[in-house]
Amino acid sequence: MSAKSILVLHGPNLNLLGLREPEHYGNATLASINQTLVDNAKLANIDLETFQSNAEAELVTRIQTIATHHVDFVIINPAAFTHTSVAMRDALSAVKVPFIEVHLSNVYAREAFRHHSYFTDIAVGVISGLGAHGYTLALDYAIRHIDQS
Ligand code: DQA
Repeated sequence: MSAKSILVLHGPNLNLLGLREPEHYGNATLASINQTLVDNAKLANIDLETFQSNAEAELVTRIQTIATHHVDFVIINPAAFTHTSVAMRDALSAVKVPFIEVHLSNVYAREAFRHHSYFTDIAVGVISGLGAHGYTLALDYAIRHIDQS
């Protein structure tokens, strides 16, 4: 049986985690979040790849590669593209991959424009407001989901 795999996608400005508005996004860097996810996935014998981009086109193209390079589950923080990107939503629908939407901050406790997501209704679930821990919770769920499928 081939190894199971998870893809973690990070949208714009998440490369600045650790520096960027820690009152919203905490102090953890993206590198430390990614390392924790890779380590936890390894313990479950799952390959985990991470990808961050500030460019919508790059994220769409990375999602499209799932059509030819299968992944079992996606964890995505679309960041600002959450509230704008029909293109990323359509790409996820096209490749029919189950995914969890993660936000470090509680988007529902912030500005009204953050309350709408183009992803939530097609996601398996959403984690918002639990900081970096939200990613490890999403990974726990993804691992269970993969084990059961
Ligand atoms: C975010 C919330 C978005 O509204 C914002 O644009 C981000 C990060 C979060 O993780 O809380 O860049 O997705």
